[in-house]
Amino acid sequence: MLRRLHPEQPESFAFSAANQQWAEAQITKYPEGRQASAVIPLLWRAQEQEGWLSRPAIESVADMLGMAYIRVLEVASFYFMFQLQPVGSVAHIQVCGTTSCMICGAEDLIAVCKEKIAAKPHELSADGKLSWEEVECLGSCTNAPMAQIGKDYYEDLTAESFGKIVDDLVAGRVPTPGPQNGRYAAEPLKGLSSLAEYEAGKPQYNASVELAIDLGDTVKRIDGTEVPILTPWLGKDGKAAATKAAPKPPKAPETPKPAVKQAEEAKAKPEPAEVKEDQPETLTAARDGKADDLKLLKGVGPKLEETLNELGFFHYDQIAAWTPEQVAWVDARLKFKGRIERDGWIEQAAKLAAGEETEFAKRAKEDGTYED
Ligand code: FES
Repeated sequence: MLRRLHPEQPESFAFSAANQQWAEAQITKYPEGRQASAVIPLLWRAQEQEGWLSRPAIESVADMLGMAYIRVLEVASFYFMFQLQPVGSVAHIQVCGTTSCMICGAEDLIAVCKEKIAAKPHELSADGKLSWEEVECLGSCTNAPMAQIGKDYYEDLTAESFGKIVDDLVAGRVPTPGPQNGRYAAEPLKGLSSLAEYEAGKPQYNASVELAIDLGDTVKRIDGTEVPILTPWLGKDGKAAATKAAPKPPKAPETPKPAVKQAEEAKAKPEPAEVKEDQPETLTAARDGKADDLKLLKGVGPKLEETLNELGFFHYDQIAAWTPEQVAWVDARLKFKGRIERDGWIEQAAKLAAGEETEFAKRAKEDGTYED
């Protein structure tokens, strides 16, 4: 399979503040001059945050590690664990198609993917929520056939149980990972033939499933707030590594089950789609025929500048005046959502409109390049 960059790319990539802190801490694991050793963890974190690896993400990791872009692209395109195209907004499903799973019904699971998700692997479902692919042995052959969904394994599947899992994910529920046929772990199907005395009093779930439930991040994008950011090799957390402050204790695991947690989170944090949209005032052309150079805003490249002009935005002061509702209106008309807030367009635009300089604008002018 040819693995190439996706033809449609976002304008920019930035780690969330917590993930940036985590990434910087990872780099300190390696001696001076060997920072490139952190390339896989950093690419993986970028993928955990975004779902897939875009060109700006690859370039951003290369910049952090002082590597040539092509070297990082080589790593990202070599390992199949890296997704080079957008994946489902809820989950990317990886069905094992190797021998044990194939003999035990992997083809039936793939038929479910084709019917319920998309006819071809790596294509998004019609609602954009799911995508799928067939992968090689995931090392759970005793529990064949199986699939990895997000970060967890779903095992001992049938077309019926797998179809239900797919339906649950679309409906916003996260099914309990692990064996789906009543098996506890990888014991014989007919029950234990030895150590049966340990049968009584065992916990409800095996250790992997229990951990998945405790963490509750099976299909969650990682923004860095849900796990302790530790740098045990420095004896302190990531923040302390940078600031020399005292270490923070690790966060205690949360107890609610994934579905419950999801519902609670949904209540606590309304989806961006729930913000009412309000169309900002637009212009048909730049004032006095002189548009501001919107590419001096971090996250805005030539294509995005063109889109903004088409929408009727030509000046920094227009962008600086957007309200949250107006941001929602503009966001809904951009291909890659969330960039306005993440890259801080409004703060940048306010500075530029006031005749001040931003770090990015200064660098872009010096480099003669407007790509981040
Ligand atoms: S053959 Fe499917 S997990 Fe090994």
